[in-house]
Amino acid sequence: MQDRSGEAIVEMVDALTTNFTSFMREASHFDFLRRKIGPVLAKRNQARIWCAAAATGQEPYSILFTLLDTLGPDADVRVLATDISTKALASVASAVYSDSAVSGLPRGWLDRFFIKGNGRWAGWHRVKAELRARVECRRFNLLSSELPDKQFPAIFCRNVMIYFDRPTQELVIHRLVQRLEPGGYFFVGHSETANCARQELTYVMPAVYRKGDQWQSKR
Ligand SMILES: C[S@@+](CC[C@H](N)C(=O)[O-])C[C@H]1O[C@@H](n2cnc3c(N)ncnc32)[C@H](O)[C@@H]1O
Repeated sequence: MQDRSGEAIVEMVDALTTNFTSFMREASHFDFLRRKIGPVLAKRNQARIWCAAAATGQEPYSILFTLLDTLGPDADVRVLATDISTKALASVASAVYSDSAVSGLPRGWLDRFFIKGNGRWAGWHRVKAELRARVECRRFNLLSSELPDKQFPAIFCRNVMIYFDRPTQELVIHRLVQRLEPGGYFFVGHSETANCARQELTYVMPAVYRKGDQWQSKR
């Protein structure tokens, strides 16, 4: 039987890949985002970050909340959230999370960034509509989809390359780095490396790399 709509393939991918994620996962990255990238973005009139394996949304919203907390609530911050799984992307768009999912968020963030569910939604929290609108969801296969048409000061591609063999990791990193600004930062998961891309990326700290050295030379 032919799968003309591609739905069967999407369902198979959803079944095979794990969407495990959490808010502020690998917290040192969000500290780095705040301390090192925040001041650079503060000098611009907009900040656009790409989260390239966004799963169910905890990572792109963690990026958004961290930057709004750092740059102020009126800062023009947007996150491109991509994933191969359409099911995961639907969760990013609806942005509804359980008590336990939001329990690790910094103090005060729940009130600032979420609305609390009532009635049958008691125990659930939804990201406020004006914040959901700042996260663009798009289906994107790291191996083959057409790259976004802009460059980003930071790209997160965390905890997905562990599923790929080394040549595939090299391909994915090479593709994404094309959409990283010179001097921009590339984040992988703490159990991953981008050491295979030494010609394009400089190691900064565990699981953080920088494209070229432009930002460093200006400091
Ligand atoms: C374990 S989750 C990691 C989520 C998040 N980045 C984190 O670190 O918490 C891996 C995600 O990668 C996605 N994924 C797997 N293969 C992919 C591919 N070829 N292109 C894009 N996303 C992919 C899965 O759908 C899943 O949502």
